[in-house]
Amino acid sequence: MVQALKSKRIAILSSGGDAPGMNACIRSVVRSAFAEGASVLGVKKGFEGLMTGELQALSMRSVGNIIQRGGTILGSSRSADFRKKKGREKAYRCLQDWAVDALICLGGDGTLTGAKIFSEEFRIPVIGIPCTIDNDLFGTDFSIGFDTAVETAVDCIDKIRDTADSHGRVFLIEVMGKNTGHLAVEVGLAAGAEFLVLPEVPYRFSDLLSRIRQGISRGKSGSIVIVAEREQPGLVIQIGKQLEKKIQRDVKTMILGHLQRGGSPSARDRNLASRFGALSIDLLKKGKNRRMTVIQRGDYRDIGFSQVIGKSRPIDKEKVRLLGLLSQ
Ligand code: F6P
Repeated sequence: MVQALKSKRIAILSSGGDAPGMNACIRSVVRSAFAEGASVLGVKKGFEGLMTGELQALSMRSVGNIIQRGGTILGSSRSADFRKKKGREKAYRCLQDWAVDALICLGGDGTLTGAKIFSEEFRIPVIGIPCTIDNDLFGTDFSIGFDTAVETAVDCIDKIRDTADSHGRVFLIEVMGKNTGHLAVEVGLAAGAEFLVLPEVPYRFSDLLSRIRQGISRGKSGSIVIVAEREQPGLVIQIGKQLEKKIQRDVKTMILGHLQRGGSPSARDRNLASRFGALSIDLLKKGKNRRMTVIQRGDYRDIGFSQVIGKSRPIDKEKVRLLGLLSQ
């Protein structure tokens, strides 16, 4: 049954780690909602602002000139209180006070897990939009922010390679990913890295060492190793120290860190965000609930929270194999 959105109030929030393209998505949600006669309230600081009642009306104009801006105009947070039932009850009361008819949540795994639980506990339609540079959400080929983060990291690594080659050094570079290797694989292949250390693939120091030694014997000057971050930080430093003892080269370590989350979104991320934002309004118009917008092999679709949350997205093993082949 198609439900008219006319005069309905939709709240939107961004939560967890910010991702470039969130603003383009907020813009799309607001303008698509207005086209249906609905109005939009922006929630400040994610679930935190939902519990403390920090909502404000977003007009067509208030989302002007943000499509190109990184971060999120709504702010974000990681809320411990929303993980508790009491916190979620507070958030629901707030939505009732503001007469909100539906909620749209932008974020990654943690955000969408929160959105799923909330939508099961209370009678309010909730739609999730995948936004994370980690690109680790099951069911969608891309999440908003991933493409930009890849570009940012590759740009940094290209610069590092210049100096690595000049000095004949090995650089170990840690990229983000929250215990997944999607970002590392994409960045590694694009930057022509010599070796990847990924949470999903068993790691042996001897493999890394023989790859670096092989490169040196073939006349390579600099080498780049990409290390995906783990929950326990420090792996990149540890490997760097171990490696320096075994080869006659300088070994440098670098952590790209939050640099990867900032910056103007790529055209691809802006367009993905624009499509997902418009789709989320379409889903509400069709009376859907507990769904996440996804892109699968170029098709824009939606899938249920229950089919997504708690599942892990496998890394692209073919890209890992190709990297090994091409960077010899
Ligand atoms: O989920 C996005 C992400 O950037 C991860 O890659 C990283 O592990 C985490 O967020 C860092 O979180 P915070 O900004 O809270 O330190």
